[in-house]
Amino acid sequence: MNDTRIRPRDRDAIIQSLRAGVVPRSGQQHVQVGRVREVESLLRNLDSVADGGSTARFVIGEYGSGKTFFLNLVRAAALKKRLVTMHADLAPDRRLHATGGQARSLYAELARNTSTSAKPDGGALAGIVERFVSQALATAREQGTSPEHVIRQRMAELSELVGGYDFGTVVEAYWRGHDTGNEQLKIDAVRWLRGEFTTKTEARAALGVRTIVDDSSFYDQLKLLSRFVCMAGYTGLLVCLDEMVNLYKLTSAQARSANYEQILRIVNDSLQGISTHVGFLFGGTPEFLMDTRRGLYSYEALQSRLAENAFAANGLVDHSGPVLRLGNLTQEDFYILLTKLRHVHASGDPTQYLVPDAALHAFMRHCSQNIGDAYFRTPRTTIREFLNLLSVLEHNPGLPWEPLVGGVVLEAERNPDLAPLEPAAQDESRVDDELATFRL
Ligand SMILES: Nc1ncnc2c1ncn2[C@@H]1O[C@H](COP(=O)(O)OP(=O)(O)OP(=O)(O)O)[C@@H](O)[C@H]1O
Ligand SMILES: [Mg+2]
Repeated sequence: MNDTRIRPRDRDAIIQSLRAGVVPRSGQQHVQVGRVREVESLLRNLDSVADGGSTARFVIGEYGSGKTFFLNLVRAAALKKRLVTMHADLAPDRRLHATGGQARSLYAELARNTSTSAKPDGGALAGIVERFVSQALATAREQGTSPEHVIRQRMAELSELVGGYDFGTVVEAYWRGHDTGNEQLKIDAVRWLRGEFTTKTEARAALGVRTIVDDSSFYDQLKLLSRFVCMAGYTGLLVCLDEMVNLYKLTSAQARSANYEQILRIVNDSLQGISTHVGFLFGGTPEFLMDTRRGLYSYEALQSRLAENAFAANGLVDHSGPVLRLGNLTQEDFYILLTKLRHVHASGDPTQYLVPDAALHAFMRHCSQNIGDAYFRTPRTTIREFLNLLSVLEHNPGLPWEPLVGGVVLEAERNPDLAPLEPAAQDESRVDDELATFRL
């Protein structure tokens, strides 16, 4: 039995997150179970990104099956491989394609959540630019040339890409700020790179560029960044987009297909090896993928590219296609999960365990009788109830666990995304709104 102690602060943070039904921000390793094959498959993708390749994978699982948890695991692995990671949840006001600022807003969110192994909790973009500059300084010293010259040369490599010229101008502005001690210039350059300028006039005044990161440059900007992070000494860029079901929920068919077209570009670039040093992970529910009316499958070109291996059915798996299905945790995984929860709850001290193994078995039996094997599929409710149980025992010393286990009430999770979308009247005004922004 594992007897690594867990710091009280970590323990409380983990337990709080799990009771709220969300993924802990740190200390995930203390509760992680299963997913070995899935992680291995993604690790190979990360290696190929670091090697100059590209990848686009769809992590598909039921509501509450562990998609976000899994994306976080992969992100942590990517940081170890010296990739830069970015992550964001899609939302009604954050999409891959838009004309009313929602794609810029998704980009800005990704930029805020830019992480490196030295700064795993985001906010790393400024540090990456700084690192690029110090690398350029070192190269200039080695080659006996000026840093400007080295930076120009590097940026010239980007100018062949869409938006590369202005990107280079901004990085050069950062260098000037660095060189002349002009902090404002550095801040403005980073603000530009983070997609935080909202008007071109403002950007022009601050940095002398004619463009800003806007809805139309969402993907091009990520491609530029993937090249840039390599120049700064990282191995590539991993972009994680979660809650993709928000695209499925868009009421306007036109807005949906514009977003799916953007995904198709990303998938095509990756399949054809056009993009380099970049990986995309999309997290979504099965309906986001398979619904032929509103999901990715409603877009024919995507359906054909994402079609799953027909032989991988009836329990057989194939982890090599673009779609990675998160299956159910097994009964063994689940048992291990309960032991880990008990362990974390006791701050890693086995002498403080509140319940014996028999209670874990009884709890699993109870769940299985109550909600059938749904509890393997969606660990969220079960985790929460088990922690609630431990909490009652903690606060009521001497209470026997047996009657408590029998009293746990569990409901199979219902996916709110599958509820009827919107009443018809509202639906129409929404469509009009969408079309109005679309036409602008
Ligand atoms: N492999 C795992 N090991 C341990 N705990 C896990 C694992 N996968 C998921 N969990 C836990 O289960 C809960 C649900 O997971 P998560 O939030 O990742 O699901 P999801 O598929 O992203 O859900 P949603 O569809 O709502 O976005 C979380 O509390 C998470 O910490
Ligand atoms: Mg999630």
